[in-house]
Amino acid sequence: MNLMHEISLSDYGLASTTPSPVAQMMASFANTFRPAIDINLGVGYVNENTIPRQFIADAVNHIVAHHHDFHAPFNYGSPDGVTELIAAIRTYLAYHHFGNLTPASLAKLDMIIGANGATSLLDAMTQILPKGIVVTTDPLYYIYTNQLQRAGFKLLSVPEDRDGIRTDILADKIKALGSRRREISFVYIVTVNNPSCSILTTQRRIGLLRLMNKLCTEQRRKIPLIMDTAYEQLIHDPDTPTPDSALLHDELGIVHEIGTLSKTLAPTLRVGYMLAKASPFLDAMVQKVSDTGFSAPLLNQHVAALLLEQHASEQIQSVKTGYREKAVQTRKWIEQYLGDEVESIIGGRAGFYFYLTFKNTQTHPESDFFKFLSRDTGNQSIDAESNPTVIYIPGNFCVNPVGDMAKQGQRQLRLSFGYESLDRIHTAIKRMGDALAYVREK
Ligand SMILES: Cc1ncc(COP(=O)(O)O)c(C=O)c1O
Repeated sequence: MNLMHEISLSDYGLASTTPSPVAQMMASFANTFRPAIDINLGVGYVNENTIPRQFIADAVNHIVAHHHDFHAPFNYGSPDGVTELIAAIRTYLAYHHFGNLTPASLAKLDMIIGANGATSLLDAMTQILPKGIVVTTDPLYYIYTNQLQRAGFKLLSVPEDRDGIRTDILADKIKALGSRRREISFVYIVTVNNPSCSILTTQRRIGLLRLMNKLCTEQRRKIPLIMDTAYEQLIHDPDTPTPDSALLHDELGIVHEIGTLSKTLAPTLRVGYMLAKASPFLDAMVQKVSDTGFSAPLLNQHVAALLLEQHASEQIQSVKTGYREKAVQTRKWIEQYLGDEVESIIGGRAGFYFYLTFKNTQTHPESDFFKFLSRDTGNQSIDAESNPTVIYIPGNFCVNPVGDMAKQGQRQLRLSFGYESLDRIHTAIKRMGDALAYVREK
């Protein structure tokens, strides 16, 4: 038999043959997950109760019945997005004061619709922007930064606090780069961060832009500042002021906001958008939408437009109210059951994550805490079938393994209260308290 080599792959292809560490962990849980017993505080899924299924069905039926009123909604579309959807998103943003954007400020900006959610726009940047250094926050949005690394980008990660990226540390790091500042490709900031749900304040946004302006002037080139606003429509804490969109303070035209309707309407619609000043970069992004799939599915775009036109206000209100209640209750349980061992809690003011730092307890997959919760201690009574497995995202997956947070990440975790119901979240956090007691006594 002739020996035949495997299909040759690009470096990116080769790096993509092994799933990311988080994907591996989640896949191994998925294989053994017992739906009625085990509790998943790990996934970033939205709460099923927030999804307006009936409104989606009504919108689809309406489009079928009135298909002549829409531009061939079951056919191919053009890559710049459905006009009605773009108009509906603009109205939605202005009406709800997201980012304090106004119709006048929005009128100066272009909007494009990604081929498949915000994720496809992030992927488009990976293809279009030159390989180099990406500046981002630590902890980081590990799904995208993992992709960037597979594609050959290097990360410069900067620690955050509850107000977002520490701009003072960023200034020092940029300075320390020396001549390698030339290699900075773009800056990627998640404004309500995943995993931590820290909220980047207006002050920090202005500080960030000030640093960027200096850097761009020194480098004599525009370096894109990408603001991922995935969770910004979900700021539910009544005492947190709405932060300004960085677009409002952008003198050079470097800010590009990437938003999504996934968290407020439904991930299944796969509607993500980019908002920015017209530029050759934006033209290339539109071409990439075409390269990926001609356009986002037209049916989805029209459904999303109808949902925004008809139900946006009640939808956003009920989604925010639901997450607010869960955030307040979950925080109480964290304080009650994990109490003294918690060094810091970030999150709970927006989105559906808490990011915890323990004083001493390790959280990584080899730790006793993790083993207790995954029923993998070797102790029969702890690992009993009747006990729930509780899944969370260990901090070591959320931080840059070679960055400043690597050590601290070992005793951190992301806990999502989005997907599971409150009674199950209660059971899970109680069980986490038992895990802490187990670790203490060991
Ligand atoms: C920070 C961030 N950006 C983007 C996305 C993906 O958005 P979309 O569903 O529009 O692809 C997510 C989803 O969890 C996210 O957390």
